[in-house]
Amino acid sequence: MSNLITITGFHEARETFRQKHLRQGLYDAGEVIMSDVIVNLHGEQHRDRRRLENRLYTRETFREYEEELFPPIIEATMAPHLAAGRAELVSLAHQLMMNLAAYTAGVDRPLGTAAETEHLYSYLKIFIDGATLEHYVGDKVAKRAEVAAALESFDEEFLAPSIARRRALLADVDAGSLEESALPRDVLTVLLRNTDKLLLEHETIRREIAFYLLAGAHTSATAFVRVLHNVLEWLATHPQDRSRIRSDPRFVQRCMHETVRLQPSSPIAARWATEDITLSTGRTIAQGDRVVIDLLEVNRDPEVFGESAQDFDPNRGVPEGIAPYGLSFGLGMHACIGQDLAAGVAHRGEGASELQLLGLVPLAVQYLFDHGCQRDLLDPPEMDPSTTRPYFGRYPVVFAGS
Ligand code: HEM
Repeated sequence: MSNLITITGFHEARETFRQKHLRQGLYDAGEVIMSDVIVNLHGEQHRDRRRLENRLYTRETFREYEEELFPPIIEATMAPHLAAGRAELVSLAHQLMMNLAAYTAGVDRPLGTAAETEHLYSYLKIFIDGATLEHYVGDKVAKRAEVAAALESFDEEFLAPSIARRRALLADVDAGSLEESALPRDVLTVLLRNTDKLLLEHETIRREIAFYLLAGAHTSATAFVRVLHNVLEWLATHPQDRSRIRSDPRFVQRCMHETVRLQPSSPIAARWATEDITLSTGRTIAQGDRVVIDLLEVNRDPEVFGESAQDFDPNRGVPEGIAPYGLSFGLGMHACIGQDLAAGVAHRGEGASELQLLGLVPLAVQYLFDHGCQRDLLDPPEMDPSTTRPYFGRYPVVFAGS
């Protein structure tokens, strides 16, 4: 018989994440989009895929994204909203983060128009439902069929042309007429370059790219809306910090880390035990047991984050060796590959005040505050009724100018 074991302590959770004999268990209901994507692989298969994709996700690539490639994408996505003087933050956040994620996944946008963004976004919304099917409150069978059909159309319209363009570039590199460095820096290129090594079927590449699109876009978009909300709430009671939000990128980054600690993208991580395991705490896990790491509890463990662990406090100090966002990016074999890209990296050296990488979520949050983002007092935010997860459904804001 299989037992359900729930881990709520921070240190035990860290040890659990690092167990080799626990395989992914969060996406069992979402196999239509999640089967054989990196986060669902185990053992050697996972190691080989991760090794390959890690080649792309280096700090140099992240720096290039952050400094050169992302700012024009943010400006272009934001331009119509700034011109209108208002925006609905939930869809704006998804459009923005999707445009950035499409770039890193390798989904080309030949037209680059707002209508094309809207169209790709409609696919993304269906993929999100597919990955989080367990929490979907409507007809799950119908939703699964809708996700499968959306994957097919997404392939035809976006993926196939993106693959064709990259194959032509790779042929040029092989023929010596194009420098390797001129190839796009994205997951699709890395996969196409190495299909022979990993024996990847077309359907696998399709699911992997769709997963990257949603892993990069949905998590970051949700975090983005929550950071803005938490900052607006914080400033209402700490008006003295109003100037820091414009002048101190580390403060913006801290607000993001604190938000992600309290509100992780997924409230739990889940695993299945493939062998019997005994943790250093003496806890035993038997083969076949389901293990749930309760991230909401773990990240509020007072032993690690203090008595005020439940509160949002961007000035919080954390003990040496503990990440300010707790375990919200996971740990061990499935640790988030896009963590530094999304949340940045801060100098930890003595007296160092410069940021190494700000992170794309803090970067985008800063951009909005630089344009005077405020809540629309006539149109209050609403939660999303279609899921049991705590997402905002609508969040109207206005831009008061810089
Ligand atoms: C606020 C933003 C983000 C959060 C909170 C987040 C969270 C997570 C978590 C918790 C995991 C581990 C899942 C598990 O252990 O079961 C994970 C894995 C992953 N994330 Fe993220 N993520 C974020 C942004 C991104 C971005 C921007 C990308 C794309 C570049 C990305 C790509 C991935 C991938 C590919 C994995 C699977 C890694 C593997 O299985 O080896 N994530 N993420």
